[in-house]
Amino acid sequence: MALPRLSLSAAVLVMCQTAWTQSPTYGLGRSPSSEEIRKWDIAISPTGKELPEGQGTAKEGELLYRSKGCAGCHGATGSGMHAPTLISRKDVKPNPAAFCLAPCVNDANSMSLHSPFATTLWDYINRGMPLGKEGSLTPNEVYALTAFLLYKNDVIKEDEVMDKQSLPKVKMPNRDGFGLPPAWKHGEPRLQGYP
Ligand code: HEC
Repeated sequence: MALPRLSLSAAVLVMCQTAWTQSPTYGLGRSPSSEEIRKWDIAISPTGKELPEGQGTAKEGELLYRSKGCAGCHGATGSGMHAPTLISRKDVKPNPAAFCLAPCVNDANSMSLHSPFATTLWDYINRGMPLGKEGSLTPNEVYALTAFLLYKNDVIKEDEVMDKQSLPKVKMPNRDGFGLPPAWKHGEPRLQGYP
């Protein structure tokens, strides 16, 4: 039984291949230019090896936070508005339901504190903010805004200059928070996806 079934699947594959190579071309679309690919290829990995030249400090970032419209959505103090909290409110007990679009981000789980790598914060701001004007920030501005948020969350000092060398070296408070789950103990339910 196994052999005929195998040859049938082989025949179907050959037929699909023939149909594919014979299908008409519609003259739609075009190959992207290398310049277009370069513009999309902006992902920054945890090591930060793709980071561009440039630099910024928290002081510069504070001005940009207001002039680039971040405060309008995230709040002048970095919290309390409808966009996620960017600056943890140390004096307020986090309320996961308060003032927040999905996915709900508040205080200790905001990116400046929760992400294991500071480079992720740079990458996120660079590719996604300000919402509606994505891609409008220069590398210097992204370094400065990243420095500002890290400083306001007590991760770096106010005068620390963020650039392609210093940013990947920032020790994030939750650097080791994404490790393996705690060892399973006999009698406990197993976490899904782990042995
Ligand atoms: C028009 C409103 C708007 C503006 C302006 C805006 N943001 Fe955002 N921002 C959002 C929203 C909404 C999200 C959540 C997006 C999501 O989770 O999909 C977000 C998410 C973020 C996050 C990730 C938060 C987290 O911890 O997950 C950062 C960091 C951030 N914004 C920084 C900035 C900075 C810096 C600026 C200014 C350059 C800025 N935003 C301007 C609406 C805005």
